[in-house]
Amino acid sequence: MSSHGDPIPMTSLACGALSGTADVPGDKSISHRSLILGALSVGETTITGLLEGQDVLDTARAMRAFGAEVTDHGGGNWSVHGVGVGGFAEPEQVIDCGNSGTGVRLIMGAMATSPISATFTGDASLNKRPMARVTDPLALFGCAAVGRAGGRLPMTLVGAADPVPVRYVVPVPSAQVKSAVLLAGLNAPGETVVIEAEATRDHTERMLAGFGAEISTEVTDEGRVITLKGQPELVPQHIEVPRDPSSAAFPACAALIVPGSDVLVPTIGLNPTRAGLYETLREMGADLTYENLREEGGEPVADLRARFSPDLVGIEVPADRAASMIDEYPVLSVVASFARGKTHMPGVKELRVKESDRIDAMATGLRAAGVTVEDGPDWWTVTGLGHGNVPGGVTCASHLDHRIAMSFLVMGMATQKPMSVDDGGPIATSFPIFEPLMAALGADVRRSAG
Ligand code: S3P
Repeated sequence: MSSHGDPIPMTSLACGALSGTADVPGDKSISHRSLILGALSVGETTITGLLEGQDVLDTARAMRAFGAEVTDHGGGNWSVHGVGVGGFAEPEQVIDCGNSGTGVRLIMGAMATSPISATFTGDASLNKRPMARVTDPLALFGCAAVGRAGGRLPMTLVGAADPVPVRYVVPVPSAQVKSAVLLAGLNAPGETVVIEAEATRDHTERMLAGFGAEISTEVTDEGRVITLKGQPELVPQHIEVPRDPSSAAFPACAALIVPGSDVLVPTIGLNPTRAGLYETLREMGADLTYENLREEGGEPVADLRARFSPDLVGIEVPADRAASMIDEYPVLSVVASFARGKTHMPGVKELRVKESDRIDAMATGLRAAGVTVEDGPDWWTVTGLGHGNVPGGVTCASHLDHRIAMSFLVMGMATQKPMSVDDGGPIATSFPIFEPLMAALGADVRRSAG
């Protein structure tokens, strides 16, 4: 089932060379944060290039429920009239975050230090995901949470009336947890300190600084020590959301595996906390080049050119690179199927608690499609068959997970027989223009199975 309607079965058939320019939509992480930080500022934040995927639309709706005025001006242009740090109103209704772990966890953080209560829910996927990783540190500020067994949604948070600042060592590599603590720290007096052993995406830190908060990051033996001074007045901003490197991965990886392809994906963020996939693909022998390297909105960007790569080889993906490519393992496992030899991916326990258990979802589909996959609790290995040798010809379950659906559809562009997914509906959460964009490049993705 898709989160917002009937299932949409889709099939991808082998296609000719992919070519052209792939203008992928705005970054999902930055889009959520633009709306939330806009809502926590006093005055009007304007946003261009907002990702209008369902996940972000659900966050926009939530920000309205907390009292911000959020306006869609069309064409990716939005404005948020914020209520200021500590200014959230108590929502009258349950906050439904749909499929979005980022949305719900960041919003929980943003409300946890205000004297209001809110009840959160989501779709069948989100309601299975662990929330204690966020509510545990929020409890240190004085916020109480009551949910279902195992810290699952639906869940009610009672924000701290008299919050205290917190020093917290994040126990799992998670930008969502780090961000929830920092957003809660905004309305606590004094300094909130978050320490992460492994660097995760740093958009919250960069954007908080941009909105005028006093925030610093020091790299020490403990890891990255992030210090935020509480109770700032956040100053509204104009934000140009860069394109999403995680969405760019789909047309780029498709180009690598479809013979003759040559695809340009313009203005891709090269923030090192997000760019691990591209480094990995190059090590596998991918023909990927960065053109027109430049800086936009404080982030390094380039145009990414991906060409068919006939001699891909399996590699050992360093475990310490996992956080910088955590959302890209599903599509990497597809590319690995077309490489020669084993691609071993250790240090990826977090993949088991995403929109689906991504190791299990991909391993099941890849095996059915004729690829050998071994897996353990925090690792998996794909033994590639080389170009032209991957059978395909199966229907895979997407488990309400956009990236699983898109990965199998990319795979079908180069398998011997078509690949289908039971439900492509979730693709709309992060990449609503996936179908027309891939069709314009020359892909043959159809609605309906078989
Ligand atoms: C995100 C953080 C990551 C990532 C997700 C977006 C964010 O999740 O998988 O798609 O915007 O902070 P974790 O924090 O669970 O690693």
